[in-house]
Amino acid sequence: MILVLLGAPGAGKGTQAEALAAATGAAHVATGDLFRAEIAAGSELGRTAKSYIDAGTLVPDEVTIGMIGARLAKPDAKHRVILDGFPRTKAQAAALDAAFAPTGRRISAILLNVDVAILTARLTGRRICSGCGRPYHVEHRPPAVADRCDACGSALITRSDDAPATVAARLEHQLAALADVVQVYRASGRLKVVEGVGEIAAIQSQLVAAAAAVGFAS
Ligand code: AP5
Repeated sequence: MILVLLGAPGAGKGTQAEALAAATGAAHVATGDLFRAEIAAGSELGRTAKSYIDAGTLVPDEVTIGMIGARLAKPDAKHRVILDGFPRTKAQAAALDAAFAPTGRRISAILLNVDVAILTARLTGRRICSGCGRPYHVEHRPPAVADRCDACGSALITRSDDAPATVAARLEHQLAALADVVQVYRASGRLKVVEGVGEIAAIQSQLVAAAAAVGFAS
C-alpha cells in the first residue's frame, strides 16, 4: 500500500512521516530529500532541480515522475511506502495511479491541514540535520544539544530554500497545485484530513489513527 502525505510547505510532512515510518516499518520516500541528494551529488538531475527549488517553484513533472519511479522500484519500496511531497500536481497524481492501479496496490492520502498564516514561521525557524536530514525548529523542536542532531550528532543547518524570500515564493507558487491534488483524492474517496497544528506527538497519534483507518498499520 502507498500512503500519500499531503500538506503545504512546512505543514510537518517530514516530521510526521519520519515518526510514522518508525511506527509502521514503512519506507519513507520524500521527493525533497531525493532532490537534495541529487544536488549534493552534483548530478544533471540535481542541477535541473536546483534552479526550480531556488526559485520556490515546482520541478517539472517529467523530471519528478522519472525520479520517483526509479525510487519506488527499489526493494524497500515494494510493500508499504509513505510518500512525502509527491504527488504535487494532478499530472503526478495521475502518473502514480497509472503506475500502481494495475498492480492492485492501494493508494490513500492524508492531508496535514495547517493554516497558511503559521507556515512562514515554521519554515524560517527550521533547521535540518546535515547528516540525516531530520527537521528541527528553533522554538518548537529544538535539539537536546545546541546545533547537533539528536539522531546522528551531525551539525544542524538552514535549508537554502528556507530563506524568507524563497519561503514567500514557495507559498505563492505551490498552494494552488496542492489544492488540485487534494481534490483528486477527495473526489475519489481516498482522502483523510488531520489537523496539523498543535503538539507534534498529538498530531502523530491522530495520523497513526487515520493511517490505520485506511489499512496502513504495522
Ligand atoms: P520539500 O523538501 O518537499 O519541501 P516542502 O513541501 O516545501 O516541505 P517542507 O520540507 O518544507 O516541509 P514539511 O511539510 O516536510 O515540514 P517539516 O516537517 O520539515 O521540497 C522542496 C522543493 O523541492 C519544493 O519547493 C519543490 O521545488 C521541489 N519538489 C519537491 N517535491 C516535488 C514534487 N513532487 N514536484 C515538483 N517539485 C517538487 O516541518 C517544518 C518545520 O515546522 C520544522 O522546523 C518542524 O520542526 C516544525 N514543525 C513540524 N510540526 C510542527 C508542529 N506541529 N508545531 C510546530 N512546529 C512544527
